[in-house]
Amino acid sequence: MTGNRIGDFTEMEQEVFYKIILSRRDVRRNFTRKKIRDKVLLRILTAAHHAPSVGFSQPWNFILIRDRNSRLSIKESFSKERLKSIELLEKDEEKKRRYLDLKLEGILESNLNICVTYDHKRFGPYVIGRMTIKEAGIYSVCCAIQNLWLAARAENIGVGWVSIIDNKDLKRILKLPSTIKPIAYLCLGYVRKFEGEPDLQSQNWLNRLDLEKVINYEQWDGGNSHPNWNGFNQQLTNKNAYS
Ligand SMILES: Cc1cc2nc3c(=O)[nH]c(=O)nc-3n(C[C@H](O)[C@H](O)[C@H](O)COP(=O)(O)O)c2cc1C
Repeated sequence: MTGNRIGDFTEMEQEVFYKIILSRRDVRRNFTRKKIRDKVLLRILTAAHHAPSVGFSQPWNFILIRDRNSRLSIKESFSKERLKSIELLEKDEEKKRRYLDLKLEGILESNLNICVTYDHKRFGPYVIGRMTIKEAGIYSVCCAIQNLWLAARAENIGVGWVSIIDNKDLKRILKLPSTIKPIAYLCLGYVRKFEGEPDLQSQNWLNRLDLEKVINYEQWDGGNSHPNWNGFNQQLTNKNAYS
């Protein structure tokens, strides 16, 4: 039974929540010219800013980039890095050809670019929970990015994460202080349609793993135990459960 105690969500609200998660996509194409209104952007950034963070350090900043010249310079960095990654495929001509067919960014076509950064000095140096695992600060920024991504999807706005950019170029173009690390470069915009599955899957690069292959029981078992969970297979085969 849900929706009875204070703070509980109703089944309908839960359904919407999972629908947003399962229909979120990394979007690199099909952007329209429609502008993202400030009110909508503020809701999305508020969602990002409400992410969990180690020791409540909130180590993120969001740099909003509309300027075309900055974007052209960032696209240049992308093109350079893309060529480098193609070279890494060396003699695998077939894979190279398939890589070249992939559209991996929407820097210029999207309405807005956002660089999400990490400030390890914020509320530091003593941050509860970050003294043993220093990466926990960056994990926190990633939580904010995921909130942003999901909130944008709830607003029917596509987001694409571009990691094929040299951080040195980003730091120079965006004038980041030396202590600030770029974590994500995101392209946001309304889209003509959201794809039903990841582009890398529809273009035969990789497929989503079966969930049971990544669940381990009690200790590392390589995902090789397949206990017969009640309803597990039913859930896996019922593709429409949340669509
Ligand atoms: C850290 C990170 C970096 C990524 N970098 C890129 C990128 O440079 N270019 C790109 O097209 N997609 C990039 N993606 C998107 C992934 O390719 C995408 O999430 C994955 O293929 C699954 O598709 P989906 O997000 O539509 O479910 C990145 C995603 C993450 C989480």
